[in-house]
Amino acid sequence: MKKTIKLIAGIALSCFVMGIAGADVSSLRGGNDLANAAEKTKKAKIEKVSGGIARTWAEQPPMIPHDVDKYQISIKNNGCLKCHSAATYEKEKSPKVGDSHFLTREDKALEKVSSRRWFCDQCHATQKGLTPLVENTFETVGRSD
Ligand code: HEC
Ligand code: HEC
Repeated sequence: MKKTIKLIAGIALSCFVMGIAGADVSSLRGGNDLANAAEKTKKAKIEKVSGGIARTWAEQPPMIPHDVDKYQISIKNNGCLKCHSAATYEKEKSPKVGDSHFLTREDKALEKVSSRRWFCDQCHATQKGLTPLVENTFETVGRSD
């Protein structure tokens, strides 16, 4: 009998604790039921940041500080290299791709961008001025600039 009472009390207590813990947890969908369509995300333009976006750590691929919609990358053509290649960057007043972009897997320097770095958007991404869904308190251990 005593055991049964203890068990019931235990269950009641854990339900109460779970109730409190669950009270301030809310889904990013808010009160929007799973069966309903998600709320539309706000439209936001790609941020243009003159002077570029500060890097968070030295080896970070810098974020793209401009629009990219017009530039395409296919197996034969790379729209980004119209401005960022060794041959064009001066005329286009654009930063040249990093020196690492000319190296093969065996660290041999090539004259043209290595195929390892051909698909720029594999590493470089644009930014949109949106409010983060979840607060981020990440702090860098050291900026390179
Ligand atoms: C019409 C010329 C042009 C084209 C095409 C272009 N860019 Fe840029 N890009 C620039 C210029 C100019 C800057 C420097 C902007 C500034 O710092 O104010 C820049 C900056 C960047 C940077 C930041 C570099 C740094 O050190 O902060 C990255 C990364 C970049 N571009 C990637 C790309 C990628 C990827 C593409 C193709 C999808 C591309 N760009 C296409 C002109 C261009
Ligand atoms: C595999 C990942 C990767 C790919 C693919 C890549 N990048 Fe980068 N990029 C980086 C990293 C990491 C850096 C910073 C360190 C460095 O320079 O290597 C960088 C640096 C840069 C910079 C700044 C250079 C400087 O001296 O400050 C530009 C501009 C750039 N990349 C453009 C491009 C373009 C254009 C392409 C496509 C042709 C491209 N990247 C492809 C990773 C990549």
